[in-house]
Amino acid sequence: MTTARQIDPPEHRYADELAFLAAADAGARPPGWRMTPRSVVTFIAGSGGTPVHGPDGRRVIEPKFVGERALVERCVVTLAGERGLLLVGEPGTAKSMLSELLAAAICGTSALAVQGTAGTTEDQLRYGWNYALLLAKGPTAESLVPSPVLTAMTTGAVARVEEITRCLPEIQDALVSIMSERRISVPELAGQDGAVGYAVPGFCLIATANLRDRGVSEMSAALKRRFNFEVVPPIADLDAEVALVTRQARAAVERGGATYAVDEAVLETLVTAFRDLRNGVSAEGWEVERPSSVMSTAEAVAVAASIGLSAAYLPGPDPLSLLPGHLLGVVRKDDPADAGRLLAYWDGALRRRAEAGSRMWRQLWEHRDVLRD
Ligand SMILES: Nc1ncnc2c1ncn2[C@@H]1O[C@H](COP(=O)(O)OP(=O)(O)OP(=O)(O)O)[C@@H](O)[C@H]1O
Ligand SMILES: [Mg+2]
Repeated sequence: MTTARQIDPPEHRYADELAFLAAADAGARPPGWRMTPRSVVTFIAGSGGTPVHGPDGRRVIEPKFVGERALVERCVVTLAGERGLLLVGEPGTAKSMLSELLAAAICGTSALAVQGTAGTTEDQLRYGWNYALLLAKGPTAESLVPSPVLTAMTTGAVARVEEITRCLPEIQDALVSIMSERRISVPELAGQDGAVGYAVPGFCLIATANLRDRGVSEMSAALKRRFNFEVVPPIADLDAEVALVTRQARAAVERGGATYAVDEAVLETLVTAFRDLRNGVSAEGWEVERPSSVMSTAEAVAVAASIGLSAAYLPGPDPLSLLPGHLLGVVRKDDPADAGRLLAYWDGALRRRAEAGSRMWRQLWEHRDVLRD
């Protein structure tokens, strides 16, 4: 029996589907890949409702990443050409999720990852040492501790570097030689096995960068040139975003062993409010003052899950009445003036909708008091 995990990595969660897709398509695959590029795209973007035929039956593949299929295709082609892939975008647009799905499909693991921070060191991108072994045996292959990047190179897997722009520029630049020479030398092991770690076929690198952090513009030109950039935009379609938020909120509640009981209309209202505040303009084209806080799909999922859990564990009169408080919580993260902007949204777009007679928006308008203090 396996122990339950709070977050199951995609290679585990979708193990059956990955095995099915790997067997389903006998077409040409890039060296070291577990499945064809077409199957990787199908795994991530779904099979569009039509079943995929495999040796042991047929299966409809559900989309995991909601967005343009062409974006997923470009990512896959970049990696098939052994170029680095840099996913950039606003926070919470599923850049990390997309990089994990790509890694899981291409090489069977999304675990070879380095989290970029201001404290990331070159060791974390190259190699370090097990000091006990180093003292006992000196520098040997056994005392070397490979970084996830070095492991990916020598095993032909996908390495992921999260939030690359949060690393100091000189640390980022350690990747330049890795990506052009495709090897890491270990001078301490000169003359021994493992003195040079060569990248074998299948090795590639996916990095993510958040546009709210230190910019990608500050990356060195040498490093930028080694990546194909792909911008991951927020979900364009309202219905697709509502469906995703609903699915994930339901999953969060069911994980807690409770029954999901929030009306679809409540989540549609929630997602619409998020989109209005994110875009600075309402669906009707009315201007909305944008808060500086991030109003991403990921935040919408978190709020929807909280409302779902609240309705399941602490049933009260009306899940919609919880929305203003949660929105305030999301909005109040950066700038105190954002609370005022939320109130202005209530008195602007939201009020106009309420006056136009929409029941949901009228009820929401009536909870305006929560925002005043
Ligand atoms: N287009 C999308 N398709 C599927 N899920 C999405 C999408 N956009 C957002 N999500 C949801 O948002 C969550 C957060 O995504 P993730 O952490 O990958 O974002 P990120 O872009 O890496 O954010 P950050 O920049 O903060 O690291 C996902 O797990 C998923 O629930
Ligand atoms: Mg991320």
